[in-house]
Amino acid sequence: MTQANHGAEPHRLEPEAFLEEVHSFEFWFQAVSGYLPGRPYGHAPETLDLPLEPRLRERLLTVLANYCVGERAALEGASGLVAIAPNHQAKIFLSTQVVDEGRHLEVLLHRMRELGVADPEAEVERRANHALVMFRRRLLELVASKDWEAAIFAQNVILEAMEFVVFQTHARRADPVTREILEGIVRDERRHIGFGENELGRRLKQAPHTRPRLAEIRRELDPLVLASFEETLAEVEVPRAERPELGRSYLAAVARLGFA
Ligand SMILES: [Fe+2]
Ligand SMILES: [Fe+2]
Repeated sequence: MTQANHGAEPHRLEPEAFLEEVHSFEFWFQAVSGYLPGRPYGHAPETLDLPLEPRLRERLLTVLANYCVGERAALEGASGLVAIAPNHQAKIFLSTQVVDEGRHLEVLLHRMRELGVADPEAEVERRANHALVMFRRRLLELVASKDWEAAIFAQNVILEAMEFVVFQTHARRADPVTREILEGIVRDERRHIGFGENELGRRLKQAPHTRPRLAEIRRELDPLVLASFEETLAEVEVPRAERPELGRSYLAAVARLGFA
């Protein structure tokens, strides 16, 4: 394992290098050592947390609550996928993903507490957006049906691509503490997307007949993703004119696998 590759974006590694390096706790540990130490609950203690005006705080809480819905879906999905993964390497990678998603959920709930929420659990319930709740339900059905390709597609391609675009966009506009938390999460999500692309890319070469089935799942899930996009981007005050561009970034990420 070369030190140089630890900092590389996983999806830029050659497939063989990817298999050897990324499916390991060794890789995971080296990667997170670069950005987690000194940041309890996702941000440096000295980062200034200036009080937000009530309207902005309210909107931020709704967004954070929905991020919790997404991260909870990823945590439950990834842990269910460990059981049905077809080989040891994939199981080991997914166990690193379970740790990442658990951490994401924890730091987001903690951020809600920092913003003065006494019972984040209840707030997540109250503010959850319908499209995202439906997405989570469908993802867990795919995992429960032991459909490896479909579940990896829904989770490590569709859900991760959505989170990647939304978190990056939000981080650019967020208060300093929220920005630091989101930037740390995005670094993990990159690994998860890399795994999804690599795993499905290889599977689709071996079994091209799975492609129409995945295209069908995409037709079902895209409207849910785009609806939750619309709500979140409105809450973080992304101008309406910029939103189609972000929708396109999501579609482009999924299209890389040939699902144009
Ligand atoms: Fe996550
Ligand atoms: Fe993830």
